[in-house]
Amino acid sequence: MTPSLPPGPHGNPLFGSVLSAAKSELAFFSELGRFGDLSTFRFGRKRFYFVNHPDLIRKILTSQNFVRTSLSRSLLESFLGHGLFSQEGEAHLQQRRLMQPAFHLKRIDGYGSIMSRFASRMLDSWQDGETRDISHDMMRLTFEIVSKTLFDADTGEQARQVNAAFTSIMRAINTEYPLYSVLPSWVPVRRWGASRRAVLELQRITHSIVQERRASSEDRGDLLSMLLMARDEDGTQMTDAQVSAQTLSLLFAGHETTANALSWAWLLLSRNPDILRKLQAELDSVLGGRPPTFADLPKLKFTEAVVKETLRIYPPAWYAERAPLTDTELGGYTLPAHSPIVISVYVTHRDSRFFDQPERFLPERFLGVEDRQLPAYLPFGAGSHLCIGNRFALMEAQLLIASIAQRFELALVPGTEVTTRALITLGVEGLKMTLRRRTPAS
Ligand code: HEM
Repeated sequence: MTPSLPPGPHGNPLFGSVLSAAKSELAFFSELGRFGDLSTFRFGRKRFYFVNHPDLIRKILTSQNFVRTSLSRSLLESFLGHGLFSQEGEAHLQQRRLMQPAFHLKRIDGYGSIMSRFASRMLDSWQDGETRDISHDMMRLTFEIVSKTLFDADTGEQARQVNAAFTSIMRAINTEYPLYSVLPSWVPVRRWGASRRAVLELQRITHSIVQERRASSEDRGDLLSMLLMARDEDGTQMTDAQVSAQTLSLLFAGHETTANALSWAWLLLSRNPDILRKLQAELDSVLGGRPPTFADLPKLKFTEAVVKETLRIYPPAWYAERAPLTDTELGGYTLPAHSPIVISVYVTHRDSRFFDQPERFLPERFLGVEDRQLPAYLPFGAGSHLCIGNRFALMEAQLLIASIAQRFELALVPGTEVTTRALITLGVEGLKMTLRRRTPAS
């Protein structure tokens, strides 16, 4: 007879596995992966399921019967308004259709020059021999890029205010979210949260930017103009409130993830000098000392492989939750409707069943291989919530790595203890690196 529950840790009778997860979420989920493709655990009285097989993960992400859990939706809605992260079904599809044109290749090409320009501006301020907090620099750079591409905002007062409010919100999301996940679902999470003032401030600013732009009817060639002009087949346009919410969602999703990917790449490159040399050789031979452009990207194959391999080892969106709408069969078990299911591509990407020598940083594994030939590779998710900014992010990471690695070599300060921050996104802190200016071979 099939047991009614998949295997999993027993945990503490009262708290379940909360304490083990609190020690290290990454170690906890990696351990769960060893129980098999589907396992279960408790946080307090709440039962969760954990899935660690690409077929099951794809089944969940591409099925309409699985939606984001109500907790993750209501929390993200309280921070970001009613944007893509809190919508499901027809409403979500309609908004995505309206936003899609902003991510067409034609538009993204134009963002490439903004990315290169902002990278050059940062590099011009870097000094040979200085030590910098690189994760901080990457966060600032990607925020500037997303603000420019979204709002056409350079370093103006509004961008500064948006950045300040956003920093408090990100800090709050990151610290409050794990707490809410163990609370019963009737707790009114929206009314809590130290970040409420920052949320209101951010909503006020984005709303006024949207209204001003709508009134001017000017196409500034940025994402905001695209969102305001977007029309569905039946002529439906987004309301100002919808544009504000989607703009916030894009700001939220569009800078911290890419910044984390870049920070991890610098750490991996500094620990793997042979890979760094190969990267520098490619940059020198393709670019011959001039700044990279969008047109160079197809030739920067090794740079692209460095980005993809970084996203495999340290996927910034390392954690997702879904719940079935009805009682559902999965992996030989019946999961009750609304049971929270955790997916962590961090664990799947490091499973030796799917990747050879998974702990090693080997960009070569991506050379001459299409992503679809690697079914367990899911850094951008899958299905209806597949990252809408995946091409934007890949291009940005490739361009920024090329721009920076061409002009500087980054070495971790000896004795530095970096820490992994596995909250909403997977980040690295304390990344103190020394810069050495290099002269690209032309
Ligand atoms: C390396 C960088 C990035 C990674 C690893 C990443 C990863 C992801 C993943 C895994 C999801 C799906 C989450 C889920 O299934 O619950 C997602 C959704 C999303 N991403 Fe990204 N992302 C990145 C960069 C970006 C950028 C640059 C933008 C926009 C400019 C963006 C916008 C979005 C949006 C709006 C969603 C929600 C889509 C929806 O629910 O329909 N992301 N991202």
